[in-house]
Amino acid sequence: MSGSSNMAAPTLSLAARYYTDEAIFKTESETLFAKTWQFAGHQSQLEKAGDYFSFEIANESLFCVMGRDGEIRTFYNVCQHRAHQLVTGAGSSKVITCPYHAWTYDLAGQFRAGPNTKSVEGFDGSQICLTSVRTEIFLGFIFVNLDDDAAPMDDWFPNVRQELESFVPHWQELRPLEYVEIPENCNWKVSVENYSECYHCSLNHPTFSTGVVKPETYDIQPQGYCLRHTTECQNLDDMTYHIDTDKQNATNYSSWYLWPLFSFQVYPGNVINTYHWRALDANHVVVYRGWYTGGGHGDDVIHKLAIQDRETTVEEDIHLVESVQRGLHSRGYRPGPLVVDPNSGVNSEHSVKALQSWMRDAADKPHDQRP
Ligand code: FES
Ligand SMILES: [Fe+2]
Repeated sequence: MSGSSNMAAPTLSLAARYYTDEAIFKTESETLFAKTWQFAGHQSQLEKAGDYFSFEIANESLFCVMGRDGEIRTFYNVCQHRAHQLVTGAGSSKVITCPYHAWTYDLAGQFRAGPNTKSVEGFDGSQICLTSVRTEIFLGFIFVNLDDDAAPMDDWFPNVRQELESFVPHWQELRPLEYVEIPENCNWKVSVENYSECYHCSLNHPTFSTGVVKPETYDIQPQGYCLRHTTECQNLDDMTYHIDTDKQNATNYSSWYLWPLFSFQVYPGNVINTYHWRALDANHVVVYRGWYTGGGHGDDVIHKLAIQDRETTVEEDIHLVESVQRGLHSRGYRPGPLVVDPNSGVNSEHSVKALQSWMRDAADKPHDQRP
């Protein structure tokens, strides 16, 4: 190389306003969060016909309900009469009854009856139905998408279903053991970026780096709109917990981050746990760490691991992301170059580069994102 003029300039990190501007957050809520697959809950929350639970996505109240045909459906939580909310929390009911004037709907969303509606000339109940939301069951995890035309999850996240199944062949038996709620004073993208690189691991996560995984084997690669993390487990003598090495993939760690707000993670020993982010506004996000066991039975190893994880990796990350959010508000911050190693590896931010290109598009060209 003769001079610096021929060299490609490094990719700079995203401008601070992407993380602090409420107008950008509004665009993300209305387009990105409303047009991507979002975690709703786990199928074990709906065991029999009529079981339901409500939740919020992109400022919309929704609920999932198990039908008489065994199908899980999702509806906007709004009555088609005069817009009262239909359900709160979770429960079980033979029909959906609106608390305002007692109109009822069957479990497939079809209007059934309402007081005195027969007196209305031309009233056609067969034309009245709750508004449904696209729903996919992904190895027992329920995801919804407010975009009726969205491509299926397998198009967004190629091969993830098969790969995850090879780590968690017992997925049919899974039940949530506990959800650990972690409020963070930062933009959801700061938290997701931090999750998506391990360049900070050896300095900031001593327990994870020496007692769970081998950081030198850590890699992250884009796979459609998924970022796949892979690494080997730590030497068995150094692990902070015991694992049964006979099972397939028992000595591997892997995670599948599904753009934009969810990640499946399998710790060595086939321990499945999840991250899901609920973005509240430009400066606040809540992260839920879900831990699952076969049958949801208390499991000492998993319970201890959940506590260890909360006290070490999670706690360490909270300090990092909140400091970054404060820094993004500083007049003195100029976005620096990402450390993108052409050979990837643990000390590379190529995954952040991929993520930031999706983030930039979501804010600037919100209608372009398609698998
Ligand atoms: S708003 Fe639901 S019955 Fe009137
Ligand atoms: Fe971290």
